[in-house]
Amino acid sequence: YSQWIFEKPLPISPVKTPVHTVQVNGRTIQYYELTVEALQAQVYPNLDAANLVGYDGMAPGPTFMVDRDVETVVRVTNRGEGPAALHLHGSPTHAPWDGWAEDLIQVGEFKDYYYPNVQAGPLWYHDHVDGATSTDVYYGQHGMYLIHDPAEDGLGLPDGDYDIPLLVGDAVYQQNGDLQSPEGNQINFFGDTIQVNGQPWPYLDVEPRKYRLRIANFALSRPFDLSFVDESGETIEVTVIGADSGLLGSPVTTENIVIAMGERWEVVVDFSSFKGQNVTMMNTLDGADIPMYANTDRVMRFTVGNSVSSSANNGDVPSTLRDINWPQKKTTVDRQFDFGHGGDAVWSINGEAFSDVNNRVLARPQQGKVELWQFNYRGGPGTHPVHIHLINFQVVSRTGGSRGLLPYEAAGLKDVVLLEPGETVQALAVYGPWHGLYMFHCHNLIHEDNLMMAAFNVTRLEE
Ligand code: C2O
Ligand code: CU
Repeated sequence: YSQWIFEKPLPISPVKTPVHTVQVNGRTIQYYELTVEALQAQVYPNLDAANLVGYDGMAPGPTFMVDRDVETVVRVTNRGEGPAALHLHGSPTHAPWDGWAEDLIQVGEFKDYYYPNVQAGPLWYHDHVDGATSTDVYYGQHGMYLIHDPAEDGLGLPDGDYDIPLLVGDAVYQQNGDLQSPEGNQINFFGDTIQVNGQPWPYLDVEPRKYRLRIANFALSRPFDLSFVDESGETIEVTVIGADSGLLGSPVTTENIVIAMGERWEVVVDFSSFKGQNVTMMNTLDGADIPMYANTDRVMRFTVGNSVSSSANNGDVPSTLRDINWPQKKTTVDRQFDFGHGGDAVWSINGEAFSDVNNRVLARPQQGKVELWQFNYRGGPGTHPVHIHLINFQVVSRTGGSRGLLPYEAAGLKDVVLLEPGETVQALAVYGPWHGLYMFHCHNLIHEDNLMMAAFNVTRLEE
C-alpha cells in the first residue's frame, strides 16, 4: 500500500470542556468526564479502518487546557476492552490519583481523579495499566494536557491558532489497514510508520510567521532527533522555549532537538522566510538498536502560505522566560540506579523487577529534601528514558556517551531524561510536595511493561 507521505492534514484534537465549574472558598474546581472507548479510524482511505481504543471516541484523546491553580476532577469511565488506569504525566498528583499501575478501573467502572495543577507546562495523559501500558498507549490512550500560566501572557509567545500540540510516535500497519500489535515484544518495538496526532506523515498549512510547537514523544521505543529542513536542504535554527516541566529560564537556539519517549519540548519556529515553500520535520536518530525504515527519517511537513492573518504575538522571543526555582545544589550522590537486565526478568532496575512485591520500594526520600539520583546503563538494546513521577528534576550531567548534557536540557526542569547505552545521568530534585508511594520507571513502554519499574516512598518528616 502507499504510505501517503505528507498527503493528509494534521489532525488537531478538540479542546476538552468541563461539565461544570464550581467556586469554593476562592478556589476554582472544574469537573470533567472522560470515557475510554473503542473506535475505528479510517487511516488509509483504500483499506479497512484501524481498530483503536482512545478517549471520547478519538485517538489521541481530546486536549485539556487548564489555567494554573485551577483544580480539576476528571471522571474516567471505562467502556474499553480491558482495565484502565489514568496517569497525568508531569503532574505532582497526590498518590491516590496518580494512576498506580495496579489501581485499575475495570470495564464498566469509573474513577474520579483529582489534579491540583500547581505548575504550568506541557503535560500529557496516558494509560498506565501494569503490563499493558505499551499496547494501551499505542492503540490511542494518550492525549495532551496543557497547563497555562496567566503570567506567560505578557511574554508575547505565539498562541491560539499559532500554538500547535504535536504527539509524535511510530506504528506498524498491516496490509488490511489495521494496526499491528506490539504485544509480545519484550525488548523493543519500532514502527516503520511515523505518526503525528494519529496521522501517518501529515502536513500542516501554516502562515509565514512564528509558531509555538508543543512536541511530545508517545512512541514505545523510538527516540527522535528532530530538525526542520527547508526545500533547499538547509536546516533552520529553531528556539527551544520549554521542557517537560514548563518554560526554560532563557530560550536556547538549536538546529536539532533530541526527544526521548515521554519527553516534551516546546519550540518556536519562524516560517516567515519560507513563503510558498515547504519545511519538513526530519528525524536523524538511528543507531545499532534503533532501526530506520524507508521513511522514518521524515516526520511531517509544514506547507507555508503567502499571507499572515494575525501578526499578534509574532515578535522576538524574550531573552528571559521565567525565574526557575532550581533545587539546591548538591554534589554527593544519594542513590544510584542501574537500568539493565536482571535476574529472572528481561529488564530491571538495580536487578529488581516491578513484580518483586517485597523489594520494589527502592528509595525512601524524606519529604521536602533535595536528593541527587544517578542512573547508569552499561549497555544493551535500545534506550531507557528514565521517568520519575511526582517531582521534576534538574539534569545536572550526562557522561559516558557521545552526546553529553544538551544545552536546552540544562536550561529547564524535566521529568524524563534519556539514558543511552554507556551513559550515566545525574538528576537533582526536591522530593515533594506530597508524601506517598510513587512509581519511577523506564519510559520505553516495552521495558516498563516488562517490569523496568520501581517504587519510591516519599516519607513524611515528624513534626
Ligand atoms: Cu508517562 Cu509512569 O509515565
Ligand atoms: Cu528501558
